Amino acid sequence: MKQGELFQSQPQAEADSLARQDLLSRLPGLRSGGCPQGSDEAIVVMSTPEAHTACPNPYIGSWLAALPERAGEEREDPGPFTEDATGKKNSLVYKAHSYPTKVPPGIILRQLLHYTRPGDVVLDGFAGTGMTGVAAQMAGRPDPETRSEIELEAKRDGRAVEWGQRYAILNDLAPGATFIAAGLNLPVDADAFDRASAALLDRFDREYGWMYQTTVEGRPARIDYTIWSEVYTCPHCGGSVLFYDAAFDPETKGVANEFPCPGCGATVSKTRLERRFTKVRTLGGDVIERVEFQPVRIAWTQGSGRTRRTGVKTLDEEDHSVLARVAGLSWRGFPASELPIATMVHGSRLAPKGFTSVHHLYPDRSLAALGVLWSWVDETSDPHTRHALKFWLEQAFWGLSWMNRYKANDYSQVNRAQSGVFYVPSLVSECSVRYNLEGSSPSVGKRGTLVKLWRSWQPAENAVRISTGSATTLPIPDEAVDYIFVDPPFGENIPYADLALVVESWHGVRTSVAEEAVVDSVKGKTTETYGELMTACFREFHRVLKPGRWMTVEFSNSSNEVWAVIQQGLAAAGFVVADTRVLDKEQGSYRQVTAKNAVKRDLIISCYKPAVEMTTAVVAAGGGQHGVWAFVREHLRHLPTTDGHRSKARVVRERHADRLYDRMVAFHVANGLPVPMTASEFYRGLDAQFVLRDDMYFLPEQAQKYERFRITFRDLEEQQLFVTDENSAVAWLRQVLRRKGRPMTFAEIQPEYMKELQQASGSWSELPDLRVLLEENFVRDAAGAAWMVPDPKKADHLEQLRQVELLKVFSSYVGGRGTLPRFRGEAVLAGFKQAWADSNYRRIVEVGDRLPADALAELPAALHYIRNARKRLGA
Ligand SMILES: C[S@@+](CC[C@H](N)C(=O)[O-])C[C@H]1O[C@@H](n2cnc3c(N)ncnc32)[C@H](O)[C@@H]1O
Repeated sequence: MKQGELFQSQPQAEADSLARQDLLSRLPGLRSGGCPQGSDEAIVVMSTPEAHTACPNPYIGSWLAALPERAGEEREDPGPFTEDATGKKNSLVYKAHSYPTKVPPGIILRQLLHYTRPGDVVLDGFAGTGMTGVAAQMAGRPDPETRSEIELEAKRDGRAVEWGQRYAILNDLAPGATFIAAGLNLPVDADAFDRASAALLDRFDREYGWMYQTTVEGRPARIDYTIWSEVYTCPHCGGSVLFYDAAFDPETKGVANEFPCPGCGATVSKTRLERRFTKVRTLGGDVIERVEFQPVRIAWTQGSGRTRRTGVKTLDEEDHSVLARVAGLSWRGFPASELPIATMVHGSRLAPKGFTSVHHLYPDRSLAALGVLWSWVDETSDPHTRHALKFWLEQAFWGLSWMNRYKANDYSQVNRAQSGVFYVPSLVSECSVRYNLEGSSPSVGKRGTLVKLWRSWQPAENAVRISTGSATTLPIPDEAVDYIFVDPPFGENIPYADLALVVESWHGVRTSVAEEAVVDSVKGKTTETYGELMTACFREFHRVLKPGRWMTVEFSNSSNEVWAVIQQGLAAAGFVVADTRVLDKEQGSYRQVTAKNAVKRDLIISCYKPAVEMTTAVVAAGGGQHGVWAFVREHLRHLPTTDGHRSKARVVRERHADRLYDRMVAFHVANGLPVPMTASEFYRGLDAQFVLRDDMYFLPEQAQKYERFRITFRDLEEQQLFVTDENSAVAWLRQVLRRKGRPMTFAEIQPEYMKELQQASGSWSELPDLRVLLEENFVRDAAGAAWMVPDPKKADHLEQLRQVELLKVFSSYVGGRGTLPRFRGEAVLAGFKQAWADSNYRRIVEVGDRLPADALAELPAALHYIRNARKRLGA
């Protein structure tokens, strides 16, 4: 009997079949926009239309149109979320399926509750395993623990929480990822899965149980796993060295670094031994030459419950004959596609060992067993149960491969492959399918856990739509989304598409690698190409988001350069950053903690899409003074008035004059407008038009709120300003002089300044002497002995003089050749600004080409000019 026939009603089966036929008929028109590679049939089999498609989802528009009407689109701006974002990693739904760099749904839920209302539509364009969908559904039905935690936090901060279902659109380039997202976001009948998965394993035992049977003391026993050891050649005597026998100590369960060769006694180590190759006929019929493995031990179980016995044995004749019988089978039903070794990040780890196709990665028995189980699952007619069975089975694709490490000290050998990398170890645990899929202890094993998950976590029928394709072209109408949460791929740390290869090959549907946003030298993808792709994705997010609404970007910062292109991409797409803060994740995935430039800290960037009236009005007027103040008003409106609580009130850095100036410049450059005023004109305007409190600027109504908050604490926690370049040096001097409240002499300033300067970075940065900085940016008091912040009128004059000086320095960078190892960042910015105003884009590009990449990473404003100038030149 087929697995699913028991569980699906006739009308439901017909509806499912019609939905599939419909998707099949639409597929030819969906083949662009990062659509995965695979046959039409394979894509349809992997999908659960209309909710989930393993291609761009053509049903999102009609789904949006049918969502319940919501009253009142007008709402108060929530400002950026500035509370701590935490989320547990131990929930069943988070742990149900592994994937690199998952975000705990609790983190997303807190953001969703802040930015959205019940009934709103949220989008995650790099959705991975769909945790944003999970969070959207949790908002409707939070578990009691999460509910009380969040309500307590809100009470402490004086906020209200509006529980209620949100709708989610989840998009990812990888069909392997959206398949997981569907498993966690669409309803699954837990009982049906329980019965079907148990029946599947029982059927396997009936028909193929002989593969995993052995005999112990004359009685049958089940094989839990077989330990295989790599065989090497001794460089001294040329004899064979069975790694397990020579290096592994069963007593201590440790592997020796150095050990004697059993043939000649010479001291050897794994790195000094030579690989030994052997010809192997795979179950696919091809003959390959790969590193040699021998089975060395079998871990077995007899009986169950109280009479259960376990042990380890060496292989006897019967065991070898079972392996020989499996090896003699001719089999189909598994992927035999070649691995794209030349373009894989870890290709160099596999090819030299002789593994060049997906099926090479498996011992014969695992390949045969998985092939049988996978084909049986395809016979299941109920698509939800079939999806659930595959969701369960696919988690064994790594754990049953040659990549599953033998971990002698671990209680279980289930899924012990090193994550984030293709690595075939010298000692392998070849687990039986039941041991892997049901677990070494079935009650806490994979099958039992999934039954528990789907019993307790019951997603709503219509709450999400899942699409597979590139976020550069989303199948979503304009301005249809109320909030976006994204966790983009971050540069070079994780090659998602490569890692998805194994699982996706079994589905017969693979990620469209060309559209993957990644920095990958093997695939010829540079930081530039990554930046361009990310900018295109941000543009698309901007298109589908309603004006005035928010986007949260969770970003694991891998390098300054990547961080700069993200900021640049956001601004170029039209987003304005209102807040950036650090999120500590307790543990990073393998690549995150070991890659040379990886950092363990994540950034949470809150940005908004400015109200359409403001942007269009400013652009239509060609910029100008009015535009500047319209922008600043809009920006201040979106900034938090307060940060922290009574005991821990913090400065809102975004409200400082220099930061407002930077944002204003970025807005103008991104919209192709000239920057219409100097910094000192800008600062003077700020003073005239806005309310200044504690060095921060407010709209009048915000100032009142801030003042009410201000009387609840004594001191603000200062954000330390580090002197790292000319700009921060001037900002630091301004802060020190203002705070002192009287002019300061050079002798007073210098020791403090030198202390700060120790933090200075950027070997490229030519920082003028303190005296020059004072001369160019500050004025002397009447006695001429001490320095003070200039009053607005004098500041203007000073600024003009300074600009002349800076342009003189800039002119020395023009016309030269080769990289400028050291330069004055402010001079470059002044020069670029002038050149931009003169439409001299070539000058910007020429000088830009001379600036070292690490310097540009620290000068995002310069990067803005260069990129936009290039665009103007059509380069
Ligand atoms: C950091 S992961 C997201 C993980 C996710 N937050 C989770 O909890 O599972 C980034 C994702 O971006 C996807 N990706 C890469 N390039 C893409 C593109 N051009 N369009 C859409 N998704 C892309 C990758 O497949 C990967 O799943």
